[in-house]
Amino acid sequence: MNTLTRYSGLSLLFAASLALAQPQPQPASDGLYRELGGKDGIRKVVETFLPLVLADARIKENFADFDLDQLNLRLQEQFCELSGGPCRYTGKYRDKTMDGVGTVRDMSTVHQDLKISNAMFNALAEDLQIALQQHGVSNSAANRLVAKLAPMQREIVTVKAPTTSPDLGKLLATGGVSQVEGAGGGGIVPWALISGYGSRDSWGANLHYTYLSTQDYRLTSYGVALGVADRLEISLANQQFKGSLAPLDQLDIRQQILGLKLKLAGDVVYDQDSAMPQLAVGVQYKRHQQLGGLGALGVSKVQQLGAKDDHGYDYYVAATKLVLDQSLLLNATLRATRANQMGLLGFGGDQGDSVRLMPEFSVAYLLDRKLALGAEYRRKPHNLGVDKEQAYYDVFVAWFPSKHVSLTAAYAVLGEITIFNPKQQRGAYLSLQAGF
Ligand code: HEM
Repeated sequence: MNTLTRYSGLSLLFAASLALAQPQPQPASDGLYRELGGKDGIRKVVETFLPLVLADARIKENFADFDLDQLNLRLQEQFCELSGGPCRYTGKYRDKTMDGVGTVRDMSTVHQDLKISNAMFNALAEDLQIALQQHGVSNSAANRLVAKLAPMQREIVTVKAPTTSPDLGKLLATGGVSQVEGAGGGGIVPWALISGYGSRDSWGANLHYTYLSTQDYRLTSYGVALGVADRLEISLANQQFKGSLAPLDQLDIRQQILGLKLKLAGDVVYDQDSAMPQLAVGVQYKRHQQLGGLGALGVSKVQQLGAKDDHGYDYYVAATKLVLDQSLLLNATLRATRANQMGLLGFGGDQGDSVRLMPEFSVAYLLDRKLALGAEYRRKPHNLGVDKEQAYYDVFVAWFPSKHVSLTAAYAVLGEITIFNPKQQRGAYLSLQAGF
C-alpha cells in the first residue's frame, strides 16, 4: 500500500470520525431518559447531586441564599427534557418580590449575576458525574447527559478568576497522560490537550516516569510538564535507550527534549455541540546527550551511524476531539520531522534528510470517568540505512484514580530498530504521572 493511499485512508478515517462527532439531528428519542431511570431516576440523581454541590468547597458558597427546592425541581425538569423525557423545563421562578408568575429564563439569564468561572462549572459537572455513578447510571448514559450540558458553559460561565494557586479546575483525565517525549497526550502521540489540571484561570504541572521494555531494548523517559491557563504547555523530558542483546548490549543512548505547545482553538470538553476539535501546535527541540556502548565499533556519535545531526526540531499540529456522547476521544497529529527513532538515532541520514510530514493517530474509549482504553499509531521517516525505521503502535489502558496521579499500561510495537537485528521489537510500557 503506497504512502499516499495510507495517508488518505488514515485522514479519511479521522475525517469520518470527526463527521461522527458532528451531532446529527436525532429524532426525539427518550433513550437517555429511560437509561437515567425516568422521572424517578432523575429525581434520585438530582437529590444526590445537590447535596454533593452543597458540600463541595469549590462551589457551595454560590448556592447560599437560593431556593434549593426550586432549583431541585428545575434541574429535574431540565434533565428530563434534555434526555428526551415527557417534561418541559419551565424555569418559573418565584422570588420574594414576585407573586409566583415569572418568565422562562435561559441559562445565561439564570446565571448572569453569579460570577461563575470555568473551574466552578467543571466542579459542578464532576459532582453530577459522581451522583450519576452513585445511582448506577451507565457511563455512556452519564456521558450523554454531560455532553448536553457541557456547551452551556458558554452561557453559564461569565467570569475569569485568575489565581496564582493551582485550581485543579479541569475535568478528570482532560489533561491527558505524559507522552514519551514529555508532552500531554497519549503514550506515543502528543495531543492538543494542555498537560496538568489548571483551568484557563490557573496552572498545573506534573512529573512523569515511563518505562518501555522490548525483547532487546529498554526505553525510559522521565520529565516535567507545566500547563499555564489551559493554553500553554512547557515540558522537559530525558530519554534513555539501552540495548540488551549483543553486540548492542552496552548501547546507552540519551537525549533531552524541550517541548512547547500552544492551544489555538476549540475546547475538548465544551464543544460537544460541534465537530470542532481542540487544536494545538507544538515544537519539540531534541538534543543528543550521549551515544554510549558502541566504543568497540569505534562509534561515539550518531553522525557515525549516518545521521546528519545530533539535534533537531519536530513541529506538530494536533486536533483532539472528545465525543462524549460516544464516550470516545479521537486525536490526529501531523508532525514535521527528520528525526530517526524520535531523535535517539539523530536527525536526517544517508537515506533522506528532508523534513517529512508524518501522521499520528490515537483513539480512546472512556470506560468510565477514571479509565480509558485506546490505541495509537505513529508513522516515522526512514532516513538511516542502518536503521529499519517503522511505525510505532500501541494499545493502552489509562487509569486516573485522582487528579494527582495517573497510571498508563500499554503493549507497544516499535518495529525493527536496526538492520543488524531484524526482529519486530514489542513489549510492555508502563507510565506513572503525578501532579496537579
Ligand atoms: C451545566 C451546568 C449548569 C446547569 C445545567 C445549571 C442549571 C440550572 C437551573 C436549571 C437552574 C434553575 C433556574 C430557575 O430556577 O429558573 C439553576 C439555578 C442556579 N444555578 Fe445553575 N446550572 C449549571 C451550573 C451552575 C454553576 C457552575 C453554578 C455555580 C457554581 C450554578 C449556580 C446556580 C444557582 C446559584 C442557581 C439559583 C439561581 C436562582 O435561583 O436565581 N449553576 N441552574
